[in-house]
This record gives sequence, C-alpha cells and structure tokens, in this order.
Amino acid sequence: MKGRILIHDLDEGMLGNTVRLYGFIDSIRKLGALIFCYLRDDTGKIQVFFDRTSAGDEQYALAESLKAEHIVSLSGILKNRPGEQALGTDKGAFEIEAKELKVLAAGQTPPFEISKTEEINEALRGKFRYLEIRNPAIKNKIKFHALVGRYIREYFYSKDYLEIETPYLIKSTPEGARDFIVPSRNFKGQFYALAQSPQLLKQLLMASGFEKYFQIARCFRDEDLRADRQPEFSQLDMERAFVEEDEIFSEIEGMFSYLAEKTGVAIETPFPRMTYASALEKYASDKPDLRNPLFIEDYTGIFADLDMDMIRNELKTGSRVRGIKVPHAVSRSQAKKFEEKIKAHGGKGLIYASRSLGETSFTFSKYAPQGFIEKFNLSDDESIFFQISGRDASMLNYLRTLLSEEFALNADGLKFLWVTDFPLFEINAEGVIGSSHHPFTAPADPSDIFGNSKPLTAIVSKAYDIVLNGTELGSGSIRINDVKVQRRIFEHLGISEKEQKERFGFFLQAMEYGFPPHGGAALGIARIAAMLEGSPSIKDYIAFPKTTSASCLMTDSPSPVDKSQLDELGLDIKG
Ligand code: AMO
Repeated sequence: MKGRILIHDLDEGMLGNTVRLYGFIDSIRKLGALIFCYLRDDTGKIQVFFDRTSAGDEQYALAESLKAEHIVSLSGILKNRPGEQALGTDKGAFEIEAKELKVLAAGQTPPFEISKTEEINEALRGKFRYLEIRNPAIKNKIKFHALVGRYIREYFYSKDYLEIETPYLIKSTPEGARDFIVPSRNFKGQFYALAQSPQLLKQLLMASGFEKYFQIARCFRDEDLRADRQPEFSQLDMERAFVEEDEIFSEIEGMFSYLAEKTGVAIETPFPRMTYASALEKYASDKPDLRNPLFIEDYTGIFADLDMDMIRNELKTGSRVRGIKVPHAVSRSQAKKFEEKIKAHGGKGLIYASRSLGETSFTFSKYAPQGFIEKFNLSDDESIFFQISGRDASMLNYLRTLLSEEFALNADGLKFLWVTDFPLFEINAEGVIGSSHHPFTAPADPSDIFGNSKPLTAIVSKAYDIVLNGTELGSGSIRINDVKVQRRIFEHLGISEKEQKERFGFFLQAMEYGFPPHGGAALGIARIAAMLEGSPSIKDYIAFPKTTSASCLMTDSPSPVDKSQLDELGLDIKG
C-alpha cells in the first residue's frame, strides 16, 4: 500500500486521474443501470459509482454483490460530482467512476446500521464497540482524545519535562478509592495493588533529584462509576521541585493555551482563582460553573427583621438566609413551579421576592415591617430566590443551576477556574476524618497542625483544583517535605505509628533523607477531551470503556479463571 491515497488527500489536481482507495462500503444503492455506493476510510467519505459499460460485466457483477461494511479496495477515475460545488471535508464535490473492485473482507452484516448507532441500546453497542466506532461521529471523539494526549506530551517535552514511567504494580496504599489488588504467585497470600495514581512515586522522583517529571499515567480505582469516572483512566501527571503554586498554575495554563491553539478552541489565560471558602460562599460549590452568571448573597441580616417565628427559630439554630438574584420578574405560579422542583430535589420551601411595574411581591409580605422589602434593592424585572440552610448549602447550588437553565442565562465557551486553599481535612458522611485531597498535601501554615488553636477542619492546605465549566479536571498541591509534618498528618488521620510503618515506611524513610520542596498536579485526559468538546461523558472518548458496573461487555470481563490459575496463586473462592 505504498503511496496510499486517503480520501482527504484527494484534490482538484487529481481530477481525471485514476486513483486507488481502500476502505469500508458505507452504504450502497442501485439506481437504474448504475450502482452507487459511499466509500469510507479513516479520513472521510466519497461517492463511487459503477457503470456496466465502463467497469465491465465482471466488475459490475462483483459490485452488485457488495453489502454495507464490506471492506474493499477500488480504483477509478476521480471526477467532479455534478451539481456539487463545495469541496467539503467528505469530498462531496468529487466522485469516482469505478473501474476495478477487490473485496478484501466480505464480513457479516453488522447487528446495527453503523450510521445510526445512537439509536441502539447500550448493551448491544458495548458488545460490538469496534463496530460502533466505525461511525465517524464516534471515532472522531476517540481521535480527539488521542490528539489531546499527543499535544500534552508535545507541550511538556517542549518545557523540558522528562517522561518517566512508574510501575503499575505497587504496594497497596489506598489513596481514597478502593484498590484493585493483584495476587502474587511468588509470595502466596501477598498482593500488589494497581496504582491509583503515581503520587508517592513521583514524589520519590523529586527525592531522587529530578526536577521536572511528567507522565501520561494509567490509574486504576475500584470506585463507584459515574459519567465522568471509569475504573481505569489516564492522567496527565506532573511534578516539579523547588516550586510554589504560581509556577504550577502557569505551567498548566500554558498547557491549555497550547491545547487551545492546536485544537482551535478559544480560551483566556490566566485562569481566575478563587479560594475554596469563597467558592462555597458565592456558589455553594467547590467546582462552580462560571458560565452561569448567578451568584449567592447573604440576606440573613435583613430576614432577622421579619416578624415570623419560623424564620427566627431557623436563624437561632445558626441557619442563614441566602438568595440568588435573577434579571427577570416572575409570577407567583412560576415561583411555585421552581419550588416544586426544589422539593422534588429533596429541598424545603422556596422564598421569593419579585419586582415588576414598580410593585414587589414577596412570599412573606404580611410579616414584613415598613421599609423591609426595599432592602432587597430590587429593580424592575428582577427577582430574588431565597433558601434557608445550615451547613449544607447544596440546595443553593441546585437552585443556581436551575435558575440559570430556566432563564437561559449560561454564557457559552470554556470557563476555567482555579479553586485554591482547600481545607486540609474533611469529615466524611460516616463522621470519620480524612484528607480533603490526600495525606501528602502541605498545610498552608505547618504550625496549625502542631497546635490546638484551630479545629482540624479549619486548617487550610496548599491544595488546588482546576475546574472547567463546573467539572473538576484535575487537582494538585504543594507537598509536605518535612517528615515531622508528614508523621503529624498521619497521626491526625488516626494512622497509628505501626500502620504508618507498614503502609508508608518506605516513603517516610525516603523523607528522612530529605525531599526538596515540590508540588504538582494531575488532570484526567479523557475529562479534558470531553470538556473541551462540551460533553459531560468521558465514556464516548474512551475506545473500550467499562459500564457503570465496571464490566466490559465486549470481552465479557470480569470472568472466572481456571482452578489451576487459582491454585498457582494459592487462592480459593469462597462460597
Ligand atoms: P485526583 O484523585 O484528584 O488526584 O485525580 C486527578 C484527576 O484525575 C481524573 N480522575 C478520573 N478520571 C476518570 N475516571 C476516574 N475514576 C477518575 N478519578 C480521577 C480527574 C481528577 O481531577 N495524585 C493526585 C494528583 C496530585 O496531587 O498531583 C490525584 O490523583 O480528572
């Protein structure tokens, strides 16, 4: 196939020449004495026709036997397609008068029409994923993912980062999610874990004296899956020695500028920054979607003047009244509809104030003293929707999204944001203290973790997230490089000295020999690709993704293994 021509290579200079193309029959139809088909290769589609007089009886008969998705090579004369002017990407302005046809693979008829895969149920598409990918719309997403990976590599090479591989089979030191564990044959009863990320290893590379590391690293996490999570995925993982946050931010912003330039999307750098505390206050979310212009304001002080026991009692328990102003007036029935949505989402009531033609309607107007309503500062055609909430302000986050959708307020484009100063610790749903990122994150002020002056959850860290249109693309931090600090963090996390030694002994020992100050970040590549194209699902961008129950419908995995394999590993299946 030397000198092979691809469909997108065809140009006007080749008109009248004989060209040979390879690909798949996309569709085929007979029209009078002519057989028309579309040929599809990796780069586009072109119309081909067989005319008995020009192709000859034998070739014509072969063309008559063609079916969609047969794999062929054909040659013919490149012609202008009558009536088609534009030279579109699918070569709509050209066609081929076929002279010679070879069927390279006359496969079975696929279980679904390749151009209509979106109408097919997930189970069937998953089983025949390789056929689904033949659809150019699906394939283009995987191509885009591959290109994003390529440009990321190009960028980090250009900045003199070294791409260093770290092992996938490592010691089990769970970082948050459950590990996938791999039994050892040589050491029966012992296990490796598949790396959840190269976190400790990249830090050890800094201890080895490397200053700029990166890797497109495969990570494995046995966690509950969602649209933006897979059990295995690739991260752009980077780390630098002798840095502070600013340098990491500008490296990552540089990477996005390069990606934007290469993929033709528009972005603005530097990205805005916001502390975790202000993100929660203003948006009730640590990953706010900044396409949405709405924000939250505190009206607790104003509501304290209402002559209402319900509100007074709420405020006494420490709840606050916070509201979101929108540039539209609403009717009572419209406000009721929003309230129903809030309730369906698990929320309580929705209070509102709305001003139209100089009149303000307010849910609790009969309890409002003179001059109360004016304090909302509403102009004509504006409303405020209020929520009373305690610590959990998630309903405000939902309300902000709901209002922006209802009034179609979201701007277009890519809105990046750095969220900084995350808390060092957080308390999970079971009331257990954990790291809000991971235990290797440096506290903003190390003295906080030695004294008792602050509650643990009030200690701020040097961790940051990068958010795009409301999705977390990546996270990172400046790391601990002082073993005393590291041990103290483990203590706060309830990891006993014995357990520290068992799980992290190698790491603590390395730290005893000295770590340079260092920091870095990791960003999911599929998430970057999907978000740059405005898609919430990473699955489409992965060639062979797993289902939400972490199975592969195509290869039918996971699957049982032979008893002999289990015996070799010294394993017995219970039950
Ligand atoms: P973190 O756990 O936040 O940080 O992961 C970084 C980024 O990886 C992506 N990601 C995922 N993508 C697909 N499926 C998943 N299951 C999944 N889990 C994570 C996300 C996420 O933001 N070691 C730290 C980074 C560091 O501190 O340098 C880490 O792995 O885009």
